[in-house]
Amino acid sequence: MIADTATIEAGAQLGTGVLVEDFVVVRAGAIVGDGCYLRAGTIVYSEAVLRSSVQTGHHVVIRSGSVVGEGTLIGTHTVLDGDLSIGRHCRLQTAVYVPPGCTIGDRCFLGPGASLTNDRRAGSHMRGLSQAGDAWQGATLGYGVRVGARAVLLDGISLGDECFVAAGAVVTRSVAAGRLVRGVPAVDVGAVPPGEELPDHD
Ligand SMILES: CC(C)(COP(=O)(O)OP(=O)(O)OC[C@H]1O[C@@H](n2cnc3c(N)ncnc32)[C@H](O)[C@@H]1OP(=O)(O)O)[C@@H](O)C(=O)NCCC(=O)NCCS
Repeated sequence: MIADTATIEAGAQLGTGVLVEDFVVVRAGAIVGDGCYLRAGTIVYSEAVLRSSVQTGHHVVIRSGSVVGEGTLIGTHTVLDGDLSIGRHCRLQTAVYVPPGCTIGDRCFLGPGASLTNDRRAGSHMRGLSQAGDAWQGATLGYGVRVGARAVLLDGISLGDECFVAAGAVVTRSVAAGRLVRGVPAVDVGAVPPGEELPDHD
């Protein structure tokens, strides 16, 4: 089902069984996989790739060069700002921001308002530094990482598999697998308790 008010540009590729609600825009060159569900107001730019069964909330922006894995859910008002990769079966809640250069593994959870960053000296492009230069580095999240609401991940850090970032934390350094960090700046306060990891996908 494609809503009458949606714009699917010539050269956009839509798989089978795709649902497209009102005022969605899919630009030429974008690829939307089988069974995806794009809710009202979503914009998918050229060269963005949504694998099968990706769902968006309302007013989601997915810029060029974003690759989103199978079965991942992208919450309302989330912005994927291009040239980034998100794994399979992730859940990004409302108003998450992911800038270029970030890599998110499978089965990650990002709480509402979580922000990833890629520019330690904010505004590098205004100083004439290009995104391809050393000044820009995204964050890298492993498998099954959970990030609490309104947490901020600074550029260039890595979050190990199954680690947990508390709500409101500002993460300035890489986090080892299975650890819980909290606070501003975030500090390691121990292991994620056994049994509290995310379940494997069936
Ligand atoms: C980090 C977290 C998992 C800790 O939960 P918990 O183990 O039940 O912790 P407790 O409530 O027992 O608190 C333990 C201590 O950590 C503190 N604390 C809890 N959450 C904190 C946070 N986000 N930031 C800073 N300190 C926090 C508590 O104040 C308490 O401090 P104290 O020992 O000095 O009294 C949880 O508070 C959290 O942030 N969850 C994320 C929720 C979220 O964003 N969900 C998104 C979907 S809506």
